[in-house]
Amino acid sequence: MSDAVAPVRQFIVAGNWKMHGSRDMIGSYCETLRAGWSQAIGTTPPPSVLLFPSYCHLERLRAGLGELPVEVGAQSVHAEVAGAFTGETAAAMIRDLGVGWTLVGHSERRTLYGETDAVVAGKLRAALAAELKPVLCVGETLDQRRSGAAEARVEQQLATAIAAVDAGLVARLVVAYEPVWAIGTGETATPEIAQAMHECIRRVLADRLGPAGAGCPVLYGGSVTEQNAAALFAQPDIDGGLVGGAALEAPRFLQIIAAAAKRGSKP
Ligand code: 13P
Repeated sequence: MSDAVAPVRQFIVAGNWKMHGSRDMIGSYCETLRAGWSQAIGTTPPPSVLLFPSYCHLERLRAGLGELPVEVGAQSVHAEVAGAFTGETAAAMIRDLGVGWTLVGHSERRTLYGETDAVVAGKLRAALAAELKPVLCVGETLDQRRSGAAEARVEQQLATAIAAVDAGLVARLVVAYEPVWAIGTGETATPEIAQAMHECIRRVLADRLGPAGAGCPVLYGGSVTEQNAAALFAQPDIDGGLVGGAALEAPRFLQIIAAAAKRGSKP
């Protein structure tokens, strides 16, 4: 572990539903979670569990989860407070729903919707200003990894985003390392590859943000499944997962939560 004096880090299992889901699916998903919850969680302290549905399902999912200790979040947020931005959603609107989290800079937003590092930094700033807890996503492409530029690319993404973070708000920041080549491909980073990048990310956070930065949870995302979760979660600098496909099926997501519960929190 790169920083022995860092505070205990929150362990988080998050599900990103992307553009999937329906009202019917939410009903049966929540029933399955409720039925399997105590068996999955088992130990103390439990991991924090988050779900990121589409905007239009945020309230429905939160109502369906009821008393379950699962928080919901948005998948993106606009950098501006308000204005003529058809189709966009402001951070304050998400907060207005009583929702506390948002993803920022997911690789699909970066590659499909042209979100540059500077745009992502603006979104991060807006999310923090609206008192949302952002999960800042970073990760390199296959070409960048093959050319030996993976760490440099991730450091650059982090540096640009972090420059937008007020020192007093660092405690709310969560980072997710999602190598683009591992997202939706079935090709997970090995625990060793993921651990090496997480260590690098923690070093950058510590260098730029001090001990509070070193204490930010750093999640791994990219083809996390119920089969590989335990090995990933056992790595010293991996503080949980950001799960795509496997989070769409409640029984699989429960197994990933169970793997995190067995791992517990790390000093
Ligand atoms: P998969 O788990 O489907 O690879 O998706 C990862 C992801 O993009 C989560 O945000």
